[in-house]
Amino acid sequence: MSTAQTGAAGGGRPLGVMAALPQELGDLVEAMRAESGVRTVTHGRRDYHLGTVHGAPCVVTLARIGKVAAAATVSALIHAFDVEAVVFTGVAGGVGREVRIGDVVVADSLTQHDLDASPLFPRFEVPLLGVARFAADQGLADQLAAATGKFVAEEGPALAARFGTQLPQVHRGLIISGDQFVASAAAVEALREALPDALAVEMEGAAIAQVCHEYGVPCAIVRTISDTADAHAPTSFASFLTEIAGTYSNGILKRFLQARAVAG
Ligand code: ADE
Repeated sequence: MSTAQTGAAGGGRPLGVMAALPQELGDLVEAMRAESGVRTVTHGRRDYHLGTVHGAPCVVTLARIGKVAAAATVSALIHAFDVEAVVFTGVAGGVGREVRIGDVVVADSLTQHDLDASPLFPRFEVPLLGVARFAADQGLADQLAAATGKFVAEEGPALAARFGTQLPQVHRGLIISGDQFVASAAAVEALREALPDALAVEMEGAAIAQVCHEYGVPCAIVRTISDTADAHAPTSFASFLTEIAGTYSNGILKRFLQARAVAG
């Protein structure tokens, strides 16, 4: 499949927009359909939706869950769709003690909390790459944080009232990823001990950041906190995912993409 065959409508290299699950993407594909129409290409068992949304040419897709799924999907975005940058949106478990359900975390850096090839290599370091923490693109993360700040300022009080959460706060810092859904007080405490500056835990971000690092593609990750990775996590995650996740993604991505379209 050549890039010429798959390039997004509207000219210029598109932005790759990913989530793990459909609920985490909100109405983005419907908004694209209404704005420019959508061309869907199936590749490696995933659907890639090409078009323009909120003024920005994009390729939108779902990774499904876990680091391998995320790495495979972002690799296709880079090689088959020639995206100029990648943005990932979704939910995460809160790890930092100040991070509450309904808050939003924008990653400055990401690490794989379950990667351990010690004693051959330091814990968390990707063997033969020599990196334990992958930096998000700071410009892209700033734009994502600005869009999130605007969303929270404009809609935070209504969100808190509607969903029964606290007024949302926006955090910047370390997001950790692994192939486990973290759902016990002991497990989340072990993560805090091993990585004291971790703000949130999820299952894809650091894999995306590693692939983007290796190919020199800018990436940024935004996560809304659906649970606190303790024994309540499965029920909290499930209800947040169905009722709230899409509202946050819609509000954040709309502002982010509109600002990107204006900047050209
Ligand atoms: N995504 C949302 N909540 C999570 C948790 N508790 N563990 C891993 N990934 C998550």
